Amino acid sequence: MNSLFQVPKDINAKKIAYEAEHAEVHWSDGHRGLYPFDWLIAHQNPTNLTPRKYHEEVELREYKFHDPANKDYPTVPFEAVMSQDRGLSEWLENIQTWGFCFVEGVPLSPEATQALIERIAFIRHTHYGGFWDFTADMTFKDTAYTTEFLGGHTDNTYFTDPARLQLFHLLSHTDGSGGESLLIDGIEAAARLKKQAPGHVAALSNIRQPAHSSGNQDVCIQPVHQFPVLNIDPETLRLYQVRWNNYDRGARQYWGIESQEEWYDAAREYNNILNSPQMQIWTQLKPGTALIFDNWRMLHGRAEFTGKRRMCGGYGMVSFYDIVHLKQL
Ligand SMILES: [Fe+2]
Repeated sequence: MNSLFQVPKDINAKKIAYEAEHAEVHWSDGHRGLYPFDWLIAHQNPTNLTPRKYHEEVELREYKFHDPANKDYPTVPFEAVMSQDRGLSEWLENIQTWGFCFVEGVPLSPEATQALIERIAFIRHTHYGGFWDFTADMTFKDTAYTTEFLGGHTDNTYFTDPARLQLFHLLSHTDGSGGESLLIDGIEAAARLKKQAPGHVAALSNIRQPAHSSGNQDVCIQPVHQFPVLNIDPETLRLYQVRWNNYDRGARQYWGIESQEEWYDAAREYNNILNSPQMQIWTQLKPGTALIFDNWRMLHGRAEFTGKRRMCGGYGMVSFYDIVHLKQL
């Protein structure tokens, strides 16, 4: 037999023999199957399917909110990350626990920074290329390539599958000042919104919004369908992804006045929480210290700056590193 669909629909077990570690089933079409007990237990189908308690069956990874008042940030040394599996593991643990992590002692070169990202996985290419090495010269017509203030946002809301990890390394900043980096924990903000007004979380997770890449005339990217701001796994009811980017949000059509009020009220309140000082981590990037964060959880932004900054970095491919830091709302 070489196809599952060659199995007759009316097949049944003629005989089952229980051995020490497996069951041997003789099927009515003449074929025989061996089923290890471990496998059968792991894949059993409970007779009572509701409520699904999947989240109680899987071990969830630890999730912690980093209080912005605490200036002691999760940090690992470059040397340990690059030379030891243990160093790499500690780096990954920090990202999944806190949503971000600094790496100290990174050589001041794009090559070393690229090698750092690739220590986790290969770099995700986009219309901005793969590994970036840029100054505020408006190579791309995107706010990230300016010197302006950038409010908290997640990247890639115009992709069906936004990049999970993003790494920045400031290589130099000369003849000027400013440009502090902003991080905001979007999942913690949603949890706080839920405590204040559960209906707002429902609005932000049920009402979808359009998004599009904006700025460059020859680039037009939209996700395969509209997504809500708060993406919740329907089986576990856990929030796993925040998509929040008012620079790339499109104009929604075909929604009634009630939905509009519901969504904007919720979005306004979520925005208030995101912009409260208790939620905002402001740090100054320094040459030699790279910052990596989870783009599905942490919003990022930047203060305006003067002078010339050279920044490099890239997006980390998600498939090799899928952080399950889901927090039950
Ligand atoms: Fe960004």
